[in-house]
Amino acid sequence: MRNRTQVGIVGAGPAGLMLSHLLHGAGVESVVLEIKSRADVEATLRAAVLEQGTVDLLVSTGVGERMLREGAVHRGVHLRFGGRSHRIDFPSQTGGRAITLYPQHEVLRDLIAARLAAGGDVRFEVSDVRLDGLDGDAPRIRFAAGGVAQELRCDFIAGCDGFHGVSRPSIPPGVLTEHVHDYPFGWLGTLVEAPAVTGEIVYAHSRRGFALVSTRTPSVQRYYLQCDPHDEVDAWPDERIWAELHGRLAGEDGWRLAEGPIFQKGVIAMRSYVVEPMQRGRLFLAGDAAHIVPPTGAKGLNLAISDVRLLAEAIVESYARVRRDLLDRYSATALKRVWRAQHFAWWMTAMLHRFPGDDEFQVRLQLAQLEQVTSSPAASTMLAESYVGAF
Ligand code: FAD
Ligand code: PHB
Repeated sequence: MRNRTQVGIVGAGPAGLMLSHLLHGAGVESVVLEIKSRADVEATLRAAVLEQGTVDLLVSTGVGERMLREGAVHRGVHLRFGGRSHRIDFPSQTGGRAITLYPQHEVLRDLIAARLAAGGDVRFEVSDVRLDGLDGDAPRIRFAAGGVAQELRCDFIAGCDGFHGVSRPSIPPGVLTEHVHDYPFGWLGTLVEAPAVTGEIVYAHSRRGFALVSTRTPSVQRYYLQCDPHDEVDAWPDERIWAELHGRLAGEDGWRLAEGPIFQKGVIAMRSYVVEPMQRGRLFLAGDAAHIVPPTGAKGLNLAISDVRLLAEAIVESYARVRRDLLDRYSATALKRVWRAQHFAWWMTAMLHRFPGDDEFQVRLQLAQLEQVTSSPAASTMLAESYVGAF
C-alpha cells in the first residue's frame, strides 16, 4: 500500500469518487479513504435527480453507460395545488435540457466499478481518520486500516466526507463562517411496491402539508410527506401514510396513487447550511462537507458533483501550469453556485410547505405564487432553469 499520493480524498460518496475519477482522467493520482464498507456505500438510499450537467459529465467521462440505459429522462415536473396538476416543461424553456432519475447509489456503484477497473486506490472500512499539516506544503491523513495505524502524505486533501465527517472540524476554530437555517418540519420518505401513476415528479401543496410523488422503477415508487422533524417512523403506520397521501393529493381531477406494500420508511431532517470559505491551506471541502440543502430542490447530489468538477480542474491546472489561480478561487467560484442552489431549495420549500402557525393568509400567498409560477412564462422558466441546473 502506498503511503504517498498527490490528492488524498476523504469519503467515497458522490463528491469523493467523482473527484478521484476526474483526476484519474487528467493523469493525477489519488487515494480515497472511506469509513463504511463498499456494500454499505452501495446500499445507501438517497437522492435520485440528476441535472443535465451531471448527466453530461457522467457520460463524457465514461461512467454514464448504465445510467443512459436504466435511468429515466424526465422532461418536466408537476406542481399540484388547488386540486389540479400544472406541468412545467423543461426542454422548451431551458434550451433542450432535462433531468434524469437514476438513484445515487447506482451512480456510486458505477463510479466504484470504474475506479477499481482503472486500478484506482479506494480503501473502505478505514477508521480514526485525522488530518494534519493543512497549512504547510505536505498535509497528511492519519487513519487505521485493519487495526493498523497508517499515514498518507499528500499534496492536497479533499474533504468529501459529508456533513458529519472529520474534514470540516479539522479546520481551526475562527476560520470558518457558518450559515445555518433549520426548517420546522421534516420529510417522511417511503419506498412502495406499486405501479407509477405519473411519468414525472409531482410536488404537491396542500393545507394538510406538502407531499412529493417520485419514482424509482416502473414497479417501485418513492413517496414523501411533510412531517414533524422529531417524528419516529412508528408514528407513521401504513394507514396513516395512505390517508395523508390521498388527502394531500386529492383533487377535482380524481387523480389517485396506486397503493402497494410500503417496504421502507425514514424521516429526513430539513436544513440549509453553508460554510465559508470552502478551503483552508491545502484542504478543500466539497459537497455535503461544506453545504446542505433541503431536498425540495433536488440539488444536494448535483452540488457535490459541480464542486468536484471545479476542484478537479483547479488541481489539474496547479500541476500542469504550476499556477494556483483556480485553486485560490475554488471557494469563491463554488460558493456562487452553492448560494444559487441554496436559494432555489429554500424558495421551493417555502412555497410548498405548511409552516407552524401559518394562517389562511399565508396559504393564499403560496397559492398566488404557485399560480404565477405555472401561468407566467417568465416565472416558470425561472423554475425550469433552476431545476435542471442552468445557472
Ligand atoms: P456523502 O454522500 O455524505 O458522502 C460522504 C462519504 O464520506 C460517506 O460515504 C461517508 O461514509 C464518508 N465519511 C464520513 N466520515 C468519514 C471519515 N471520517 N472518514 C472517511 N470517510 C468518511 N440530494 C438531492 O439532490 N436529491 C435528493 O432527492 C436527495 N435526497 C436525499 C435523501 C436523504 C435521506 C439524504 C440523507 C440526502 C439526500 N440528498 C438529496 C442529498 C444528497 O444525497 C447529498 O447531497 C450527497 O450525498 C452529497 O454527496 P457527498 O459526496 O458530498 O457526501
Ligand atoms: C427522489 O426521487 O427521491 C426525490 C425527487 C425530488 C426531490 C427530492 C427527492 O426534490
